[in-house]
Order: sequence, then C-alpha cells, then structure tokens
Amino acid sequence: MTKVTITVSELRDMLDRGEPLTVVDIRRAEQYAEWTIPGSRHVDVYDALQVGDTAAIDRVELPADTPVVAVCNVGRTSLLAVDRLRRRGLDARSLEGGMQAWSLAWNAATVPTPGGNATVLQVRRTGKGCLSYVAGANGAAAVIDPSVDPDVYVRLAEDHGWRIKVILDTHVHADHLSRSRLLAELTGASYYLPDQQRVKFSFNALRDGDEIEVGGSVIRVLNTPGHTFESVCYLLDGTVLFTGDTLFVNSVGRPDLKASDRAEATKRAHALWGSLAKVTALPPETVVLPCHTSSPVAFDGQAVSARLSEAGKAVAVLGATAEAFVTAILGRIPANPPNHQYIVEFNEAGEFPPWDPTMLEAGANRCAVE
Ligand SMILES: [Fe+2]
Repeated sequence: MTKVTITVSELRDMLDRGEPLTVVDIRRAEQYAEWTIPGSRHVDVYDALQVGDTAAIDRVELPADTPVVAVCNVGRTSLLAVDRLRRRGLDARSLEGGMQAWSLAWNAATVPTPGGNATVLQVRRTGKGCLSYVAGANGAAAVIDPSVDPDVYVRLAEDHGWRIKVILDTHVHADHLSRSRLLAELTGASYYLPDQQRVKFSFNALRDGDEIEVGGSVIRVLNTPGHTFESVCYLLDGTVLFTGDTLFVNSVGRPDLKASDRAEATKRAHALWGSLAKVTALPPETVVLPCHTSSPVAFDGQAVSARLSEAGKAVAVLGATAEAFVTAILGRIPANPPNHQYIVEFNEAGEFPPWDPTMLEAGANRCAVE
C-alpha cells in the first residue's frame, strides 16, 4: 500500500497528468459549495466522523481500482476517513493540510491570442481562483499579478527560453499576497506598479499611456480606477488586455474593499463605470485576461478568457446608465474576502509573512460583483 497521505504538489501533479483518481471531499456541504478541487465528489460524512461514527464512510460506494484522495479542511478528519477506506482495501490517501493547503495549488494554460509577437501563459491558482500571467517573446518575459510560488514563474519562463525582465501588478491586491517582490528578488527583474501613495517600498511607477517593451512586445498602461483608485489594465501589443480586477469574463470588480465609507465606495463605483466605458471602447476582438475567476479552475489547459465583445455582453449592467450601474453594483456587493485587511497591510508594506501564507489566504476570492 502507498503512504497514508499525499501532498498538495503530488496531488496537483497527478491531476495535471490526468491520472485516474477519485477525490472525495468530506467537508460540510456549505464548504464544498464555496470552493472545491476540480472533479472532486462530495461525501456527507463530516459530522458523523466528528462524533466518532467512523463507519459512516463504509456506506459510501467508491471505485476500487483507482486511488482515492480524501480531503477535509486541514487534513485531520480526512485521516479518519482514510483509515476506514484502507481497511476496505482501497488505495486511500489523505490530502496533507486539507483545503487550506490546497489554496496554493495551480495549473497553467496557453492563451489563444490573435497572432502577435508574444506567447501568453495563464497561471491559475485553482485553489483560490487567482489568475496570473507570463507573457514572453524573443527570450524575455513579463509576469503580471504573480500569486503563486515565484519558482513556478521562473520554471515556466525557462521552459519557453525566456528570462523574466518585468513584473507588474495591476493594483494593490486584497485577496492574495503579491509574490511580485519575491519574484523580483529571485530574478533581478524590474517591478512596476501603478503610480500611487499606498505602498511603503520603492517601485517603478506607471502612469496612463506609459509603455514598457519586453522582447519586442509593448505593454501599454491604461488607468482604470474603480476597483481601487490606482487600478490599471495592461494592453499587450494592442490585442490582449490584462484587466486585473476591473473586468472579469462575466462580471466586474467590486469597488468597496477598504473604502472608508459608502461615499467612497460610490465614488469608486462611478470611477469604475468610466473605466469600463474606456475599456469597452477598445476593439471588440481584444482578449480579456482577468486577475480572478469565481470558481475552481479545472486541469484542462483551457484559458479563462473572453473576447471583449463577449465579456461586455455578459455583464448586463454595462448596458445601463451610470446611475443604474452604481446602484446595481453597490446593491450586489458580496461578503468581504477573508482577512482582506491583513492581506492589504502586507501588500502595502511589501512584506511576505515568514509563516504559512495560506493561514491568511485560504478561502474563496470575492473580488467580483456578479
Ligand atoms: Fe483586487
């Protein structure tokens, strides 16, 4: 028999290779509904296991010919389930650290782009819904909104023969700790942020219309305040738009996080309206590449993206007036993302905690208004 546990990177690699396995999520139904491992199956045994009724899992039918991975919140209750499943003769393993540790899992896809000079890779933090990008050409690459281990970007770039020269964030993030400074230290690349007074460290400041050259491609800055006042989008070679948390494939960024009061949220919602008008005036075939998605990303190699014309149609409030847009957006604000105040403090200080970052970052992202 194999060992009793499996690490996040081992499970990630198995899913990435498409190996047959059954992932059994034993958390409570409401937790399963919020965020899952792609392809996992929910089994309602959590409360039974908690009160010592470990036999509850015996009644669950599972395929005997493929490995079973049991998942809970932090990897303790799943050990109880695995013990029973192994007694049944199943090749069962418990995910070490549970869904909290899974927060760091990622996969990648190549973005279909309309010709052009650069190749764009989408790095999907499937455990959390954060999307980041490596855009490379002629031996050089830019990384946009890095949210997973810096080594991941370095390895992906090396696989394509690129050196990371430029690192960009679209704004000061509230749902994940930016890996930009760590990646800059590791690679010696230049780190750029929109011009603002929020962060306490030195950076290369970008203003509306600025252009950065990477491997013969040009990244142009579009100021798009709203989600935050400093938010920008980056337009690559006039065809691919990294939209940050301004525009998603079927929703828009929330304008309220860290707003001091309703008046500021309203002001930001108005700014967002103007920014979305600016963005949607770009050619309809522009490829929209956002910083988040609101559901776990499958290990399917399919980029999460949309043409600007599709994204514009999917966001019904974009067809409204500014007043109706602001009212609709502010009326549909979701719950705050967990720990966002602390995450913002770390990102403004430019620090990365010396302890496990998933203690702050675990949980669904809630940056969109749908
Ligand atoms: Fe954000």
